[in-house]
Amino acid sequence: MKSYEKAGIQIREACGSRPPEACIILGSGLSSFADSIENAQQIPYAKIEGFEAVGVEGHSGQLVLGDLHGRSIACLQGRWHAYEGHNISDLANPIRSLRSAGCDLLLSTCAAGSLNESIPPGNLMMLTDHINWTGLSPLIGVNDDQMGPRFTDMSQAYDIDLQGHLRAAAAETGLKLHEGVYLWCLGPSFETPAEIRAFKILGADAVGMSTVPETIAARHCGMKVAAVAAITNYAAGLQANLSHEQTLTVGNETAPQLAKLISGFFKRWGRLSSE
Ligand code: HPA
Repeated sequence: MKSYEKAGIQIREACGSRPPEACIILGSGLSSFADSIENAQQIPYAKIEGFEAVGVEGHSGQLVLGDLHGRSIACLQGRWHAYEGHNISDLANPIRSLRSAGCDLLLSTCAAGSLNESIPPGNLMMLTDHINWTGLSPLIGVNDDQMGPRFTDMSQAYDIDLQGHLRAAAAETGLKLHEGVYLWCLGPSFETPAEIRAFKILGADAVGMSTVPETIAARHCGMKVAAVAAITNYAAGLQANLSHEQTLTVGNETAPQLAKLISGFFKRWGRLSSE
């Protein structure tokens, strides 16, 4: 049995009679959302088959299982980054584990730097598409046919209906939700001003070091994906200095808005699927 199948069984068993339907990934400085999960049960990553430790400050490293507006959800409080030196194909593992457990929806969150002057720090940006600048993919290697096809269609990386629900949830909760294209850089160094000028020409609105590998893994195994970035800074060259401290501080300040949006999204989702 593959390690993600073992983890899937473990997660499903921990959920009792209601396997998780959706998973949420919480990015840097955004962990506090997990506090709003009802009947929460925490499982440290170290106790889950195939889940490696996470090594970045601001990322907790546990799976939180519980309910949100009557839906059973699994929340990854902390994520793995390629720059930590993980084998790139291992980044698919948690997503496949949650898929095996029953999730068919992924709501991803992250911190990002803005390239767009109309999207200032402290705002939320829904991802409408992405650019993979790293040349890496969690699907590199022998294809796992059990999970999905060799060649994955990425024409709708971020599901158009879920985008509509996020937009509607933002309107219902009175939140400003910007939209744009996210560009994945490997990191861990921040970008140079020249890179940011180039990325702007390529059509990026925000830049970050995460999200895209999980989106690719999730699309490969047929999950629908939605993603929201908390804009924590202007990208290199558009503001004086960049630091992870700023990412965490502004991420923490933006987290309540994000929690409101996620909650509104699941409230809507629960309502629509029970109609
Ligand atoms: N660049 C890359 N990753 C980031 C940034 C940034 O400016 N801000 C938060 N995560």
